[in-house]
Formats: sequence, C-alpha cells, structure tokens
Amino acid sequence: MRELPRADDLLVWYDRHARAMPWRVPPAARQAGVTPDPYRVWMSEIMLQQTTVAAVKSYFETFTERWPTVTDLAGAADEDVMAAWAGLGYYARARNLLKCARVIAEDYGGSFPREHADLLLLPGVGPYTAAAVSSIAYDAPETVLDGNVERVMARIFNDHTPLPQAKPVFHNYASSLTPPLRPGDYAQAVMDLGATICTPKNPACGLCPWRSNCAAWAEGTAAELPKKMPK
Ligand code: ADE
Repeated sequence: MRELPRADDLLVWYDRHARAMPWRVPPAARQAGVTPDPYRVWMSEIMLQQTTVAAVKSYFETFTERWPTVTDLAGAADEDVMAAWAGLGYYARARNLLKCARVIAEDYGGSFPREHADLLLLPGVGPYTAAAVSSIAYDAPETVLDGNVERVMARIFNDHTPLPQAKPVFHNYASSLTPPLRPGDYAQAVMDLGATICTPKNPACGLCPWRSNCAAWAEGTAAELPKKMPK
C-alpha cells in the first residue's frame, strides 16, 4: 500500500525551495518567530485571485508603500485606490478591498480577526481568502484550496472526478493532509509545489518530494489530471 504523503516531507522541500515573494515571511524567519502581517497577507491574496504572482508584485509594493497599514488604506480616497488598481482587472476586488479595510478600521480597531468564521463575514473575503489569511497569517490549521492545490490533490489521489464537482472531495483530501504544526507554511508549500513542480503541463515529477506517495505518478496519469467538465 502506498502511504499518504507526509506534510513534513513537503515542508523540508519548502524550507529549501520556497519562492521569495514580497508578502511572504521566508520559512527560516517564520520558524525563528517572525510573524506575517495579516494586512499584507490579505492584500496579496485578494490581488492574487485571477492574477499571476508576476503581475501582482509591483501592485502589491505600490499599495503597501502608499498605504502601509489597513488604517491608512481605510482613510484613502476611493478614486486613489481605483487609480492605483488600474491594470490589475476585476475591479470589484478593489472596491471590496477598500470596503473591507474600512470595516477592519472601524469595527475591529485596525486588526484583522483571526477566526475563519469572522474573516468570512468581511467584504470580498470568501472561503479561499479566509483560509489563506487564517493559516498564513495566524498559523491556524485551515485548508486552502486553489487551482494549484486542486491539481496536486487530483494527482496524489489519482482522482478522475471532474472539476468543479470534485472541489468538496479535493478539499477533504487537502484537509486530511494539513498538519497541526506549521499549517501556514504548509499551505504555501502546496501552492508552490503546484506552481513549480506539479504543473498543469509537463510536471517535474522527478523533483517532487511526494512522488513516492503519488497515485497518479504510479499510474502514469499525472498529466491528464485534474479532469474538467467540458464548458
Ligand atoms: N497564490 C495565491 N496565494 C499564494 C501564496 N500565498 N503563495 C503562492 N502562490 C499563491
């Protein structure tokens, strides 16, 4: 029987290969006790919805230099925020960003709530963003499921159920693998694995720390997964 993949094996890989990103606390610093700023985690996760890491970087830097805290952002003029967002697309995100900043400033005294359920009530924050903020910023053992994580789960479990129906099942898989220790690094590690090794085309299975636990690797089906419903 193949064993389930161990979070530790992925974390060891992440300690060496984590991608540097302006909103990230590198794993060595994280383990030395540096905690991420929830404002920066939230901002990056909103920007990264429907937008690539490469495109987000300069916008993230502009926003956080101009509005270093959520209270600064809450005090910004709508038109300044919309103008700074120009080019990133999906403008509802920018309107919700500002609404959310004002709720945090006014109702939460400028600090982000820690609980997944409280985060979910914020404008523009859905299950993905709530899980990302509570795990990455607060190290809560929440499960982050984005396209990268879905692909990794489909392959590890060699599950041919098509997306989007497969989402709840993939969420369960991901949740069953989430460790109690370092869940924030773990969430980012699965995303990095999906973005750099377990890629949609030509996955680099030879470099994968979970290869020996991967049912799709064993069956030779990695490149066909995940399945998608025809549109
Ligand atoms: N995509 C969305 N959020 C991400 C994160 N925190 N790390 C890597 N890729 C991401």
